[in-house]
Amino acid sequence: MIRRGGLGLALFLALMAGACSKAVEDEPVAAPAPAVGDVISNSMAGRGEAIAELACAQCHAIGATGDSPHPDAPPFRLLSRTVDLDTLPERFAEGHITSHPDMPDWQFEEVDMEGLIAYLEKVQAPDSE
Ligand code: HEC
Repeated sequence: MIRRGGLGLALFLALMAGACSKAVEDEPVAAPAPAVGDVISNSMAGRGEAIAELACAQCHAIGATGDSPHPDAPPFRLLSRTVDLDTLPERFAEGHITSHPDMPDWQFEEVDMEGLIAYLEKVQAPDSE
C-alpha cells in the first residue's frame, strides 16, 4: 500500500509541473476567460487523471479506449454501468472498494477522491458503446 504522504507529494509535484508549463503556453490570453466552475472541475479531473495514471492504470484501462491490463478489472469508462460513482468516496473511505484480493485498499485525501470522481465521470462512455 502506498503511503498517503508519499502519493500526495508526488502528485503535488506532478501537478505543479503541469501548472507551470501550462501557464507559459497559455500566454498571451486571447480567448475569453472560461467560467470559474469549468476551470475548477477541469483541474479536479486533471488531478484525478494523474492519480489514475499513478495508482490505477496498471490494472484498469483508465482512458476512452483500450482493455484493462488486469483481466478482472473493469475499464474506468464503463464503471458507471455497474457502480454508483457517487458512492465511491464513501466506499473508499471505509477501505473496501472491492473484495477482490488484487485491488488494493486505497486511502485518499478528500480532494484527491473528488478529483478521481471528477475524472471517472468525465471518461464515462456513452451508453451506446
Ligand atoms: C492491482 C490491480 C488494481 C489496481 C492497482 C486498482 N484496481 Fe480497481 N479493481 C481491480 C480488480 C481486479 C477489480 C475487480 C474486482 C471484482 O470484480 O471484485 C477492480 C474493481 C474496481 C472497481 C469496481 C468495484 C465494484 O464495486 O464493482 C472500482 C470502482 C475500482 N476498481 C477503482 C479503482 C481505482 C480508482 C483505482 C486506483 C486508485 C484502482 N481501482 C486500482 C484491480 C485493481
